[in-house]
Amino acid sequence: MDDAVPQQDAAFWTRANRHLLRYGGEFVPFVPARAEGAFLYDAAGRRVLDFTSGQMSAILGHSHPEIVATLRAQAGVLDHLFSSMVSAPVVDLAEALAGLVPELPKTMLLSTGGEANEAAIRLAKLVTGRWEVVAFAQSWHGMTGGAAAATYKAGRRGIGPLAPGSFAIPAPNAYRPRFQGVSWQQELDDSFELLDKQSTGNLAAFIAEPILSSGGVLDLPLGYLAALKAKCAERGMLLILDEAQTGIGRTGRMFAFERDGVVPDILTLSKTLGAGLPLSAVMTSDAIAAVADEREFLFYTTHVNDPLPAAVGVKVLEIVLRDRLAERAGGLGARLAAGLRGLQQRHECVGDVRGRGLLLGLEFTGTGGRTAADISDRVTDLALDLGLSANIVRGGAAGGTMRIAPPLTVSEAEIDLGVELLDAAISGAMRG
Ligand SMILES: Cc1ncc(COP(=O)(O)O)c(C=O)c1O
Repeated sequence: MDDAVPQQDAAFWTRANRHLLRYGGEFVPFVPARAEGAFLYDAAGRRVLDFTSGQMSAILGHSHPEIVATLRAQAGVLDHLFSSMVSAPVVDLAEALAGLVPELPKTMLLSTGGEANEAAIRLAKLVTGRWEVVAFAQSWHGMTGGAAAATYKAGRRGIGPLAPGSFAIPAPNAYRPRFQGVSWQQELDDSFELLDKQSTGNLAAFIAEPILSSGGVLDLPLGYLAALKAKCAERGMLLILDEAQTGIGRTGRMFAFERDGVVPDILTLSKTLGAGLPLSAVMTSDAIAAVADEREFLFYTTHVNDPLPAAVGVKVLEIVLRDRLAERAGGLGARLAAGLRGLQQRHECVGDVRGRGLLLGLEFTGTGGRTAADISDRVTDLALDLGLSANIVRGGAAGGTMRIAPPLTVSEAEIDLGVELLDAAISGAMRG
């Protein structure tokens, strides 16, 4: 921190650097003291527009009054239980989720996305009696064993062997295709041909995000999920869809898979289900649940089916449905996308704008002697100085894609403000 940093900030960072173990690079040099709606505020009252919904989760904005009231009420009545006890909020949430995906009426509730994927992969292995798991080469499914083994975006080095039988295929990238003139169908066919050669005949599951978010907001083209499901079905594999970021209205529909008319064998929800509180879910069919029961599926954790986060989940679904937030994400997403396309027209360094609903990506491209990575870094830093928090994901040939995912409750004025701040940050980055 430089000399301009107020004394108390310098002391804070000294303490933070002394005691906090780093887990993912540098900390952001803005210290929120409170948050409300789409804004974060530091102790001095400086506000920053939160265009990532925290960690892509706070779909209702921060400190939504009804979530605060639910938490207060539920904590005072029934918070945590012995893991084999079930309570009303848990059944209420499982029933509400089944109402949204009638094909998957069996649910278990956990805390994080990684944990839900861990359970989903374990379930798929037990039910198929096989152990090979396939994912996209740009995927992010979590940091625990099985989820980490299916995560190819980052984190595979320096930790010893990951699960044997882990395979990756490339996700289609329309902006930066691996080979010009090769259709996604052809790429998928080739990938499965290669996979079949490597497999020992034990393919259990494919786990996929409908939009690879950490991978750089790569939206699977319409038709891809159906083709992928068919590939899985041909091989007796289960399709696990991870809607950590895309679920609960974010893309303009309740779930991203609805656009494709494809229902997975197992669906995992996290981040957005608790709107920022630790809540995740694994949903599956009666048929899969029956085999799992027969084979004594075990995924027993301290916080499985806890009533406090479940009550929050019930309230989140109620608000999202009542306030038609999926539709809202569609409408506001179109406004945001139009704003970002305006930036693309004004700034040569903006190479691509993509995504769905309120999950959009803006990819920078090297311009004016600057690399895309340099431009992304400068834009991110300047945006934060100007009062906008957005997040850059790096990957492959891409120098950086800015991931933009404001709360679904964001106002039109806040969308416009975000675009304005980004415009100023890009101009500043290219000038400086
Ligand atoms: C698609 C997806 N799945 C799973 C996870 C892991 O969730 P968690 O960090 O809650 O374990 C993430 C986290 O970013 C994610 O983006």
